[in-house]
Amino acid sequence: MTPEQLAAQLRCPSGEHAVEVADRMNEANGPLTVRAIGVLDIQSGDAVLEIGPGNAAFAPDALRRPGTHYTGVDWSGDMVAAAQRRHAGLVAQGRARFLRGSSDDLPFAPGSFDRALAVNTLYFWERPQRHLAAIKRILKPGGSFCIVFGDPGFMRDLPFVPFGFTLYEREMVERLLDIAGFVDVQAHDHHETVTGNNGETVARLPPAVRPCRLSRPAPAIEEGRSPPKDRTAGERCRCGSLSSPPR
Ligand SMILES: C[S@@+](CC[C@H](N)C(=O)[O-])C[C@H]1O[C@@H](n2cnc3c(N)ncnc32)[C@H](O)[C@@H]1O
Repeated sequence: MTPEQLAAQLRCPSGEHAVEVADRMNEANGPLTVRAIGVLDIQSGDAVLEIGPGNAAFAPDALRRPGTHYTGVDWSGDMVAAAQRRHAGLVAQGRARFLRGSSDDLPFAPGSFDRALAVNTLYFWERPQRHLAAIKRILKPGGSFCIVFGDPGFMRDLPFVPFGFTLYEREMVERLLDIAGFVDVQAHDHHETVTGNNGETVARLPPAVRPCRLSRPAPAIEEGRSPPKDRTAGERCRCGSLSSPPR
């Protein structure tokens, strides 16, 4: 697959390569998505919306608490079909649903969700203000939203990025969230290291789909802690912006 073809698949996984691309995204981005779900601190009974989940491999992680309900909205019909197949049991139980749509035109009543997340989707939004306004609209007062995006310092070197990705510094996203009316914005850095078979710290994830910088980790800002001193390689990205809409 050429970088241009891969970029198109990452934007909207479709056709014969869709399942393969979804599997690769799950391997590369799974820890990040699970982290975002953890940051959201989902409570019993919460309704959770994920924007652009692909085949929604991590939906069960959002459904650990009793009475929770998951909705995945993806603009790829192939991903919606794959998620429905993958989670047919959850759908049959009424715990999950998967819909085709876009986050700038969400087909839900205002205040329908307690929690929302969007992982590695921001790059494709032509007018991000519209998407963020739509997401805020469907959140309940006091609900929260986690948007996750890669550090431009790493992303801009990826071969597929020139083909339709728009990159954002954290400050830009915080400004967009502010304009959309989100409050209490918090930022979290996400670091990952993997130990290879020879004991060295290596990057396990295929560079083509890894969302974040492979480098010495930046100082962690979360809870004022610094990363462990012995880290020699790390995946750095912005798990940006846990927010609550205004009352
Ligand atoms: C790069 S993939 C990321 C998938 C997964 N969240 C991850 O991090 O591995 C982007 C996914 O989001 C979907 N997508 C992007 N923008 C979207 C939007 N505004 N509304 C719905 N789906 C969107 C694409 O179809 C694709 O499945």
